Amino acid sequence: MSVFTILFIADICGKAGRQATAHLTIPIKEKFGADYVIANVENSAGGFGITPEMSQKIFTYGVDLQTSGNHIWDRVDILEYIAQEPRLLRPDNYPHGVPGSGVFVDHVNGVKIGVLNLMGRTYMANIDCPFKKASRQLTAMSEQAKIIFVDFHAEATSEKQAMMYHLNGKVSALVGTHTHVPTADEKVTSKGTAYISDAGMTGPYDSVIGMEVGPSLGRFVTGMPKRFTTAKDDVKITGVIVRVETETGRAISIERYQYSFDIEDAEASRDAIFKRDKTETQDLEDDPKNGGDNGNDKTEEATHPTPEQEDGV
Ligand SMILES: [Fe+2]
Ligand SMILES: [Fe+2]
Repeated sequence: MSVFTILFIADICGKAGRQATAHLTIPIKEKFGADYVIANVENSAGGFGITPEMSQKIFTYGVDLQTSGNHIWDRVDILEYIAQEPRLLRPDNYPHGVPGSGVFVDHVNGVKIGVLNLMGRTYMANIDCPFKKASRQLTAMSEQAKIIFVDFHAEATSEKQAMMYHLNGKVSALVGTHTHVPTADEKVTSKGTAYISDAGMTGPYDSVIGMEVGPSLGRFVTGMPKRFTTAKDDVKITGVIVRVETETGRAISIERYQYSFDIEDAEASRDAIFKRDKTETQDLEDDPKNGGDNGNDKTEEATHPTPEQEDGV
């Protein structure tokens, strides 16, 4: 049995998120032996959309394919770019005629992987039905690739869980995005689909879903509109690693990861990813799946803020 490993990077938010992605994508890819890297980039430009230049740069960081969501249209110059760059996806269930595509089939060392980007409709724009769109696209995609990865960009966990049952056994992985808050419900179903309601965010966690606390809190307190800017502190790169059986497309495991990033000491942030490896060597040897509990330990360790960060607001 050969294994294909997918590294997914959750919503890249603002400059801090881009910097973490620039410095840590390759180390994480090496640590987990990933074959393919997918990143959701919808918040890369100051939290709102992505520019063509940023998209091109993110490819150079080691990302193979970019997914997005409701914020993909926030920068006007992305319209021409997305029509010409098939490796930047927008949700596929936007109405017919919208620039770009939500489907891409890639080839990696003789292995084909299909990626589908969809968007939910609960508390979001009332675009075409993601369930019907998924069924139609998967009929075509499954003829081209055994491995199929779905980024379902949606607000409601109920809609995401429903989609999991809709696609159960038909896709290798269904990973939720958009809320910027990682959930702890990752699992592989008995039919071989890896699932998590939300992969989280790559960006500043001392924030309200990536934005500076003041205006975000102010909007809720006063009910008045505020100008948002992305926050800067407590930066983490976050997402999941999905391992798939190459021959069948069935998921073997899904594991959360989260690593802190300090732009003032990017080298130390890189080193920390591998140093944990050494201290966990014995645990890893004891764990036949080489993941699971060890991954959770890493997440917990990385999640604890330092005293400096706690004083940040
Ligand atoms: Fe997002
Ligand atoms: Fe979103």
